[in-house]
Amino acid sequence: MTSIPHDTPGEPDPLRALGLERLRCRTSMKWRTYPEDVLPLWVAEMDVPLAEPVVRAVTEALALGDTGYPAGTAYAEALAAFAAKRWNWDGIAVERTAIVPDVMLGVVEMLKLVTGPGDPVIVNSPVYPPFYQFITHMDRRVVEAPLGAGLRLDLDPLADTFRNVTAGQGRAAYLLCSPHNPTGTVHTAAELAAVADLAERYGVRVVADEIHAPLVAPGVTFVPYLSVPGAERGLSLMSASKGWNLAGLKAALALAGPGAAADLARLPEEVSHGPSHLGVIAHTAALNDGTGWLDALLASLDAGRSLLTALLAEHVPAIRPCPAEATYLAWLDCRALGLGDDPAEAFLDRGRVALSSGLPFGTGGAGHVRLNLATSPEILTEAVRRMAATVA
Ligand SMILES: Cc1ncc(COP(=O)(O)O)c(C=O)c1O
Repeated sequence: MTSIPHDTPGEPDPLRALGLERLRCRTSMKWRTYPEDVLPLWVAEMDVPLAEPVVRAVTEALALGDTGYPAGTAYAEALAAFAAKRWNWDGIAVERTAIVPDVMLGVVEMLKLVTGPGDPVIVNSPVYPPFYQFITHMDRRVVEAPLGAGLRLDLDPLADTFRNVTAGQGRAAYLLCSPHNPTGTVHTAAELAAVADLAERYGVRVVADEIHAPLVAPGVTFVPYLSVPGAERGLSLMSASKGWNLAGLKAALALAGPGAAADLARLPEEVSHGPSHLGVIAHTAALNDGTGWLDALLASLDAGRSLLTALLAEHVPAIRPCPAEATYLAWLDCRALGLGDDPAEAFLDRGRVALSSGLPFGTGGAGHVRLNLATSPEILTEAVRRMAATVA
Protein backbone atom coordinates (compact mmCIF):
# COMPACT_ATOMS: atom_id res chain seq x y z
CA MET A 1 0.00 0.00 0.00
CA THR A 2 1.47 3.37 -0.96
CA SER A 3 0.58 6.79 0.35
CA ILE A 4 0.15 9.65 -2.04
CA PRO A 5 2.67 12.47 -1.82
CA HIS A 6 1.60 15.47 0.17
CA ASP A 7 1.99 18.56 -1.96
CA THR A 8 0.28 21.83 -1.27
CA PRO A 9 0.05 23.87 -4.45
CA GLY A 10 -1.42 27.28 -3.70
CA GLU A 11 -2.85 26.36 -0.31
CA PRO A 12 -2.04 28.77 2.52
CA ASP A 13 -0.84 27.32 5.81
CA PRO A 14 -4.03 26.95 7.91
CA LEU A 15 -2.07 27.04 11.17
CA ARG A 16 -0.76 30.54 10.46
CA ALA A 17 -4.07 32.09 9.47
CA LEU A 18 -5.51 33.09 12.86
CA GLY A 19 -3.95 35.20 15.59
CA LEU A 20 -4.52 34.79 19.31
CA GLU A 21 -6.95 37.70 19.52
CA ARG A 22 -9.20 36.14 16.88
CA LEU A 23 -8.94 32.68 18.42
CA ARG A 24 -9.98 34.02 21.81
CA CYS A 25 -13.31 35.07 20.24
CA ARG A 26 -14.16 31.37 19.85
CA THR A 27 -16.74 29.98 22.25
CA SER A 28 -15.75 26.30 22.08
CA MET A 29 -14.34 24.18 24.91
CA LYS A 30 -10.70 24.86 24.09
CA TRP A 31 -11.13 28.59 24.47
CA ARG A 32 -13.77 28.86 27.22
CA THR A 33 -12.61 26.42 29.87
CA TYR A 34 -9.74 28.46 31.28
CA PRO A 35 -9.33 32.16 32.12
CA GLU A 36 -7.97 34.56 29.45
CA ASP A 37 -4.41 34.55 30.80
CA VAL A 38 -4.11 30.79 30.16
CA LEU A 39 -2.77 29.64 26.79
CA PRO A 40 -4.87 26.58 25.82
CA LEU A 41 -3.09 23.66 24.10
CA TRP A 42 -5.21 20.84 25.46
CA VAL A 43 -8.47 19.47 23.94
CA ALA A 44 -8.26 18.27 20.30
CA GLU A 45 -9.49 21.35 18.50
CA MET A 46 -7.25 23.01 15.91
CA ASP A 47 -6.44 26.72 15.59
CA VAL A 48 -7.37 26.78 11.90
CA PRO A 49 -9.99 28.43 9.72
CA LEU A 50 -12.11 25.80 7.95
CA ALA A 51 -11.27 24.51 4.49
CA GLU A 52 -12.98 26.72 1.91
CA PRO A 53 -15.00 23.85 0.30
CA VAL A 54 -16.46 23.05 3.73
CA VAL A 55 -17.43 26.66 4.38
CA ARG A 56 -18.97 26.92 0.92
CA ALA A 57 -21.00 23.72 1.27
CA VAL A 58 -22.37 24.63 4.70
CA THR A 59 -23.02 28.25 3.71
CA GLU A 60 -24.91 27.16 0.60
CA ALA A 61 -26.99 24.75 2.70
CA LEU A 62 -27.81 27.53 5.18
CA ALA A 63 -28.74 29.94 2.38
CA LEU A 64 -31.06 27.30 0.96
CA GLY A 65 -32.55 26.42 4.32
CA ASP A 66 -31.31 22.88 3.71
CA THR A 67 -31.30 22.16 7.44
CA GLY A 68 -33.52 19.12 7.72
CA TYR A 69 -32.63 15.50 8.39
CA PRO A 70 -29.75 13.67 6.69
CA ALA A 71 -30.50 11.33 3.75
CA GLY A 72 -28.51 9.21 1.34
CA THR A 73 -25.00 7.85 1.20
CA ALA A 74 -22.94 10.82 -0.03
CA TYR A 75 -20.73 10.81 3.08
CA ALA A 76 -19.92 7.11 2.72
CA GLU A 77 -19.25 7.53 -1.00
CA ALA A 78 -16.92 10.45 -0.28
CA LEU A 79 -15.05 8.39 2.31
CA ALA A 80 -14.77 5.43 -0.08
CA ALA A 81 -13.30 7.70 -2.79
CA PHE A 82 -10.94 9.34 -0.27
CA ALA A 83 -9.78 5.93 1.00
CA ALA A 84 -9.13 4.72 -2.54
CA LYS A 85 -7.04 7.78 -3.43
CA ARG A 86 -5.34 8.34 -0.13
CA TRP A 87 -4.72 4.85 1.17
CA ASN A 88 -5.01 2.91 -2.07
CA TRP A 89 -7.82 0.95 -0.38
CA ASP A 90 -11.02 0.18 -2.24
CA GLY A 91 -12.55 -1.87 0.58
CA ILE A 92 -15.30 0.52 1.69
CA ALA A 93 -18.61 -0.88 0.49
CA VAL A 94 -21.31 1.73 0.99
CA GLU A 95 -23.85 -0.96 1.93
CA ARG A 96 -21.60 -1.94 4.84
CA THR A 97 -21.56 1.57 6.32
CA ALA A 98 -23.87 3.48 8.63
CA ILE A 99 -23.92 7.11 9.69
CA VAL A 100 -23.56 7.70 13.41
CA PRO A 101 -23.63 10.96 15.38
CA ASP A 102 -19.90 11.03 16.11
CA VAL A 103 -17.05 8.62 16.60
CA MET A 104 -17.51 7.98 20.31
CA LEU A 105 -21.24 7.36 20.02
CA GLY A 106 -20.39 5.14 17.05
CA VAL A 107 -17.95 3.22 19.23
CA VAL A 108 -20.69 2.74 21.81
CA GLU A 109 -23.11 1.45 19.18
CA MET A 110 -20.53 -0.95 17.71
CA LEU A 111 -19.67 -2.27 21.17
CA LYS A 112 -23.38 -2.80 21.84
CA LEU A 113 -23.58 -4.92 18.70
CA VAL A 114 -20.78 -7.28 19.72
CA THR A 115 -20.79 -7.31 23.54
CA GLY A 116 -23.29 -7.35 26.39
CA PRO A 117 -23.43 -5.68 29.83
CA GLY A 118 -20.46 -6.61 32.00
CA ASP A 119 -18.36 -7.84 29.08
CA PRO A 120 -14.70 -6.82 28.84
CA VAL A 121 -13.43 -4.21 26.40
CA ILE A 122 -9.66 -4.14 26.00
CA VAL A 123 -7.81 -0.86 25.44
CA ASN A 124 -4.13 -0.03 24.98
CA SER A 125 -3.22 2.42 27.72
CA PRO A 126 -2.23 5.18 27.74
CA VAL A 127 -5.21 6.01 25.57
CA TYR A 128 -7.82 8.71 24.84
CA PRO A 129 -9.61 9.15 28.22
CA PRO A 130 -13.22 8.96 26.91
CA PHE A 131 -12.52 5.32 26.02
CA TYR A 132 -12.67 4.62 29.77
CA GLN A 133 -15.66 6.87 30.37
CA PHE A 134 -17.85 5.65 27.52
CA ILE A 135 -17.08 1.95 28.09
CA THR A 136 -17.84 2.24 31.80
CA HIS A 137 -20.96 4.31 31.18
CA MET A 138 -22.34 1.57 28.93
CA ASP A 139 -21.79 -1.06 31.65
CA ARG A 140 -18.83 -2.76 30.00
CA ARG A 141 -15.58 -3.45 31.81
CA VAL A 142 -12.32 -1.78 30.73
CA VAL A 143 -9.34 -4.13 30.60
CA GLU A 144 -5.99 -2.49 29.95
CA ALA A 145 -3.31 -4.01 27.73
CA PRO A 146 -0.66 -1.28 27.96
CA LEU A 147 1.43 -0.25 24.97
CA GLY A 148 4.91 -1.76 24.97
CA ALA A 149 8.39 -0.62 24.05
CA GLY A 150 8.49 2.51 21.93
CA LEU A 151 4.82 3.00 22.80
CA ARG A 152 3.82 0.48 20.14
CA LEU A 153 1.31 -2.38 20.34
CA ASP A 154 2.70 -5.17 22.52
CA LEU A 155 1.42 -8.34 20.91
CA ASP A 156 2.40 -11.00 23.47
CA PRO A 157 0.69 -9.29 26.44
CA LEU A 158 -2.22 -8.48 24.12
CA ALA A 159 -2.54 -12.20 23.31
CA ASP A 160 -2.43 -13.00 27.04
CA THR A 161 -5.15 -10.44 27.69
CA PHE A 162 -7.32 -11.83 24.88
CA ARG A 163 -6.84 -15.33 26.31
CA ASN A 164 -7.59 -14.26 29.89
CA VAL A 165 -10.71 -12.27 29.15
CA THR A 166 -12.25 -14.93 26.94
CA ALA A 167 -11.42 -17.90 29.21
CA GLY A 168 -14.63 -19.36 30.52
CA GLN A 169 -16.92 -16.65 29.25
CA GLY A 170 -18.40 -15.39 26.06
CA ARG A 171 -17.93 -12.08 24.43
CA ALA A 172 -15.12 -9.56 24.47
CA ALA A 173 -14.12 -6.61 22.32
CA TYR A 174 -10.89 -4.79 21.63
CA LEU A 175 -11.13 -1.03 21.11
CA LEU A 176 -8.14 -0.24 18.93
CA CYS A 177 -7.05 3.37 18.52
CA SER A 178 -5.47 3.73 15.08
CA PRO A 179 -3.50 5.99 14.79
CA HIS A 180 -3.04 6.02 18.52
CA ASN A 181 -4.06 8.97 20.68
CA PRO A 182 -2.04 10.28 22.62
CA THR A 183 1.24 8.87 21.26
CA GLY A 184 0.66 9.45 17.52
CA THR A 185 1.77 5.87 16.82
CA VAL A 186 0.82 4.58 13.36
CA HIS A 187 0.30 0.83 13.50
CA THR A 188 1.96 -1.12 10.69
CA ALA A 189 0.23 -3.57 8.36
CA ALA A 190 2.12 -6.40 10.08
CA GLU A 191 1.02 -5.29 13.55
CA LEU A 192 -2.60 -4.97 12.45
CA ALA A 193 -2.57 -8.36 10.72
CA ALA A 194 -1.18 -9.87 13.93
CA VAL A 195 -4.02 -8.20 15.88
CA ALA A 196 -6.58 -9.63 13.44
CA ASP A 197 -5.03 -13.06 13.80
CA LEU A 198 -5.17 -12.91 17.61
CA ALA A 199 -8.72 -11.58 17.55
CA GLU A 200 -9.86 -14.48 15.39
CA ARG A 201 -7.96 -17.01 17.48
CA TYR A 202 -9.58 -15.88 20.73
CA GLY A 203 -12.94 -14.74 19.40
CA VAL A 204 -12.42 -11.09 20.36
CA ARG A 205 -14.25 -8.54 18.22
CA VAL A 206 -12.19 -5.58 17.06
CA VAL A 207 -13.65 -2.08 16.92
CA ALA A 208 -11.10 0.31 15.40
CA ASP A 209 -11.35 4.04 16.12
CA GLU A 210 -9.68 5.50 13.04
CA ILE A 211 -10.66 9.14 13.53
CA HIS A 212 -7.03 10.32 13.19
CA ALA A 213 -6.46 8.41 9.93
CA PRO A 214 -6.25 11.49 7.68
CA LEU A 215 -3.64 13.05 9.99
CA VAL A 216 -0.53 10.99 9.27
CA ALA A 217 2.76 12.79 8.67
CA PRO A 218 4.03 13.20 5.10
CA GLY A 219 5.69 9.98 3.96
CA VAL A 220 3.95 7.81 6.56
CA THR A 221 1.35 5.27 5.47
CA PHE A 222 -1.88 4.76 7.36
CA VAL A 223 -3.21 1.20 7.08
CA PRO A 224 -6.98 0.84 7.56
CA TYR A 225 -7.69 -2.01 9.97
CA LEU A 226 -10.33 -3.52 7.70
CA SER A 227 -7.79 -3.73 4.86
CA VAL A 228 -5.54 -6.28 6.57
CA PRO A 229 -5.93 -10.04 6.10
CA GLY A 230 -8.09 -11.65 8.77
CA ALA A 231 -9.93 -8.44 9.73
CA GLU A 232 -13.17 -9.38 7.93
CA ARG A 233 -15.14 -9.49 11.18
CA GLY A 234 -13.83 -6.08 12.26
CA LEU A 235 -15.73 -2.83 12.69
CA SER A 236 -14.30 0.65 12.24
CA LEU A 237 -15.26 4.26 12.89
CA MET A 238 -14.07 7.01 10.59
CA SER A 239 -14.84 10.71 10.35
CA ALA A 240 -13.59 13.94 8.85
CA SER A 241 -13.93 15.48 12.30
CA LYS A 242 -10.29 15.50 13.47
CA GLY A 243 -8.69 15.97 10.05
CA TRP A 244 -10.73 19.05 9.17
CA ASN A 245 -11.67 20.35 12.65
CA LEU A 246 -15.38 19.59 12.38
CA ALA A 247 -16.13 18.26 15.88
CA GLY A 248 -19.00 20.71 16.29
CA LEU A 249 -20.59 19.52 13.05
CA LYS A 250 -21.66 16.09 14.20
CA ALA A 251 -21.37 13.16 11.79
CA ALA A 252 -19.25 10.00 11.55
CA LEU A 253 -19.33 6.67 9.74
CA ALA A 254 -19.32 3.12 11.03
CA LEU A 255 -17.80 0.57 8.64
CA ALA A 256 -18.14 -3.22 8.76
CA GLY A 257 -15.86 -5.80 7.22
CA PRO A 258 -17.64 -8.46 5.14
CA GLY A 259 -17.82 -10.78 8.15
CA ALA A 260 -19.40 -8.08 10.32
CA ALA A 261 -22.07 -6.97 7.83
CA ALA A 262 -24.77 -8.89 9.68
CA ASP A 263 -23.76 -7.21 12.94
CA LEU A 264 -23.93 -3.74 11.44
CA ALA A 265 -27.31 -4.60 9.92
CA ARG A 266 -28.62 -4.98 13.49
CA LEU A 267 -27.84 -1.32 14.22
CA PRO A 268 -31.16 0.26 15.20
CA GLU A 269 -32.49 2.67 12.59
CA GLU A 270 -32.85 5.44 15.17
CA VAL A 271 -29.05 5.73 15.52
CA SER A 272 -29.07 7.39 12.09
CA HIS A 273 -31.26 10.16 13.54
CA GLY A 274 -28.30 11.47 15.61
CA PRO A 275 -25.92 12.93 13.01
CA SER A 276 -26.56 16.49 11.93
CA HIS A 277 -27.48 17.03 8.28
CA LEU A 278 -25.15 20.05 8.20
CA GLY A 279 -22.49 17.78 9.68
CA VAL A 280 -22.95 15.24 6.91
CA ILE A 281 -22.70 18.05 4.32
CA ALA A 282 -19.53 19.44 5.92
CA HIS A 283 -17.80 16.07 6.30
CA THR A 284 -18.69 15.07 2.74
CA ALA A 285 -17.29 18.34 1.33
CA ALA A 286 -14.09 17.90 3.35
CA LEU A 287 -13.46 14.41 2.02
CA ASN A 288 -14.41 15.27 -1.56
CA ASP A 289 -12.79 18.67 -1.95
CA GLY A 290 -10.63 19.35 1.10
CA THR A 291 -7.49 17.35 0.34
CA GLY A 292 -5.43 20.38 -0.74
CA TRP A 293 -6.25 22.05 2.57
CA LEU A 294 -5.44 18.82 4.43
CA ASP A 295 -2.06 18.50 2.75
CA ALA A 296 -1.17 22.09 3.67
CA LEU A 297 -2.18 21.29 7.24
CA LEU A 298 -0.10 18.10 7.33
CA ALA A 299 3.00 19.89 6.06
CA SER A 300 2.53 22.56 8.71
CA LEU A 301 1.92 20.02 11.49
CA ASP A 302 5.13 18.28 10.52
CA ALA A 303 7.00 21.56 10.86
CA GLY A 304 5.23 22.09 14.20
CA ARG A 305 6.39 18.69 15.48
CA SER A 306 10.00 19.55 14.60
CA LEU A 307 9.66 22.99 16.14
CA LEU A 308 8.28 21.56 19.36
CA THR A 309 11.11 19.02 19.60
CA ALA A 310 13.70 21.76 19.03
CA LEU A 311 12.08 24.16 21.51
CA LEU A 312 11.87 21.51 24.21
CA ALA A 313 15.48 20.44 23.62
CA GLU A 314 16.59 24.04 24.02
CA HIS A 315 14.39 25.26 26.87
CA VAL A 316 13.18 22.20 28.83
CA PRO A 317 15.49 19.35 27.85
CA ALA A 318 14.28 17.17 30.72
CA ILE A 319 10.99 16.68 28.86
CA ARG A 320 11.09 13.74 26.45
CA PRO A 321 8.62 13.93 23.55
CA CYS A 322 7.32 10.68 22.09
CA PRO A 323 8.17 10.66 18.36
CA ALA A 324 4.75 10.86 16.71
CA GLU A 325 3.93 9.90 13.14
CA ALA A 326 0.32 11.05 13.20
CA THR A 327 -2.28 13.23 14.95
CA TYR A 328 -1.54 16.75 16.12
CA LEU A 329 -0.90 15.64 19.66
CA ALA A 330 2.43 15.39 21.41
CA TRP A 331 2.84 12.99 24.32
CA LEU A 332 5.45 14.39 26.64
CA ASP A 333 7.28 12.42 29.31
CA CYS A 334 7.82 14.93 32.10
CA ARG A 335 8.87 12.50 34.81
CA ALA A 336 12.39 13.90 35.02
CA LEU A 337 11.03 17.33 35.97
CA GLY A 338 10.10 16.26 39.48
CA LEU A 339 6.57 17.67 39.17
CA GLY A 340 4.91 14.48 40.40
CA ASP A 341 2.20 12.44 38.74
CA ASP A 342 0.33 15.41 37.31
CA PRO A 343 2.73 17.94 35.78
CA ALA A 344 -0.17 19.54 33.87
CA GLU A 345 -1.31 20.98 37.18
CA ALA A 346 1.98 22.87 37.68
CA PHE A 347 2.07 24.00 34.03
CA LEU A 348 -1.42 25.42 34.48
CA ASP A 349 -1.02 26.94 37.94
CA ARG A 350 2.47 28.38 37.57
CA GLY A 351 3.00 28.58 33.80
CA ARG A 352 -0.55 29.53 32.72
CA VAL A 353 -0.49 27.01 29.89
CA ALA A 354 -3.25 24.38 29.68
CA LEU A 355 -2.11 20.91 28.58
CA SER A 356 -3.98 17.62 29.04
CA SER A 357 -3.05 15.74 32.19
CA GLY A 358 -1.67 12.28 31.47
CA LEU A 359 -3.49 10.68 34.40
CA PRO A 360 -6.90 10.08 32.74
CA PHE A 361 -5.11 8.28 29.88
CA GLY A 362 -4.74 5.29 32.22
CA THR A 363 -1.71 3.18 33.04
CA GLY A 364 1.40 4.87 31.68
CA GLY A 365 -0.10 8.34 31.93
CA ALA A 366 1.39 9.45 35.26
CA GLY A 367 4.10 12.07 34.89
CA HIS A 368 3.03 12.79 31.30
CA VAL A 369 1.13 15.56 29.56
CA ARG A 370 -0.44 15.76 26.12
CA LEU A 371 0.16 18.93 24.14
CA ASN A 372 -1.99 19.96 21.18
CA LEU A 373 0.37 21.35 18.56
CA ALA A 374 -2.27 22.30 15.98
CA THR A 375 -1.50 25.96 16.43
CA SER A 376 0.83 28.65 15.08
CA PRO A 377 4.60 28.59 15.63
CA GLU A 378 4.19 31.75 17.73
CA ILE A 379 1.70 30.13 20.12
CA LEU A 380 3.76 26.94 20.28
CA THR A 381 6.86 28.96 21.12
CA GLU A 382 5.02 30.88 23.83
CA ALA A 383 3.65 27.61 25.26
CA VAL A 384 7.14 26.16 25.63
CA ARG A 385 8.35 29.43 27.14
CA ARG A 386 5.59 29.10 29.76
CA MET A 387 6.49 25.46 30.39
CA ALA A 388 10.13 26.41 30.87
CA ALA A 389 9.14 29.23 33.22
CA THR A 390 7.14 26.73 35.30
CA VAL A 391 10.26 24.74 36.12
CA ALA A 392 12.82 27.59 36.13
C1 LIG B 1 -9.22 8.71 19.32
C2 LIG B 1 -10.41 9.63 19.34
N1 LIG B 1 -11.64 9.12 19.21
C3 LIG B 1 -12.72 9.91 19.23
C4 LIG B 1 -12.61 11.27 19.40
C5 LIG B 1 -13.87 12.10 19.47
O1 LIG B 1 -14.52 12.05 18.27
P1 LIG B 1 -16.04 12.48 18.15
O2 LIG B 1 -16.08 13.92 18.54
O3 LIG B 1 -16.37 12.24 16.71
O4 LIG B 1 -16.78 11.59 19.09
C6 LIG B 1 -11.35 11.84 19.55
C7 LIG B 1 -11.23 13.29 19.75
O5 LIG B 1 -10.19 13.84 19.94
C8 LIG B 1 -10.23 11.01 19.52
O6 LIG B 1 -8.99 11.50 19.65
